[in-house]
Amino acid sequence: MKKAFHLLWLVVLVSALVLTACGGGGQEASSGGGAKVERPAPPADYASKTNPKAGDAAAAAEGKKVYETNCASCHGNTGKGDGAAAASLNPKPQPLATTEGALSDGYMIWRIAEGGGMAPFNSAMPAWKSVLSEDQIWQVVAYLRTLPK
Ligand code: HEC
Repeated sequence: MKKAFHLLWLVVLVSALVLTACGGGGQEASSGGGAKVERPAPPADYASKTNPKAGDAAAAAEGKKVYETNCASCHGNTGKGDGAAAASLNPKPQPLATTEGALSDGYMIWRIAEGGGMAPFNSAMPAWKSVLSEDQIWQVVAYLRTLPK
C-alpha cells in the first residue's frame, strides 16, 4: 500500500515535468518577464518577405534613427523593453534585443506594419505602415539585428 502511494506521486511528478517541458512550440520565446508570448505565423503576403537590407551597415545606421524617434519610448534605448512608457503598458513592450533572434523578417515587418491592435496581441504596439515607408521598416529591422542581447 505504501509503495503504491509513492508510485502515484512519482507519476504525478513526472507528468508535471513533461507538461512544463512541452509547453513551448512555434515561434514562442519567453519575454523579459518570463511570460509565454503567443506569436502566430504572419499572413502569407508578409511571411514571404525578407529584408533586402539585411547586414547593410548604412541601413542599420538609418534604422537606429528611426528606432530612437519611434520605438525607444516603449522598447527602450537598447531594446530591453524598458522605455519610459513601458511601465504603464499591459502587455509590456517586447525586449526586442533578446527576442529578435527568434523572429523571422516576415514576422518583424508584419508586426511593425500592422501593430498590436488585433487578436491575439491586443496591445499598445502602434501600426507603422502609414507612418514609416517599407524601406524605413527594413532599416529598423536591420538595426534590431545589431542590438547586443
Ligand atoms: C506605445 C508603445 C510602443 C511603441 C512606440 C512601439 N512598440 Fe513595438 N510593441 C509594443 C508592445 C506593447 C508590444 C508587445 C505586444 C505585441 O506583440 O503587440 C510590442 C511588440 C513589438 C514587436 C513584436 C515582438 C515580438 O517579440 O513578438 C515588434 C517587432 C515591435 N514591437 C517593433 C517595434 C518597432 C520597430 C517600433 C518602432 C517603429 C515599435 N515597436 C514601437 C509597444 C510599442
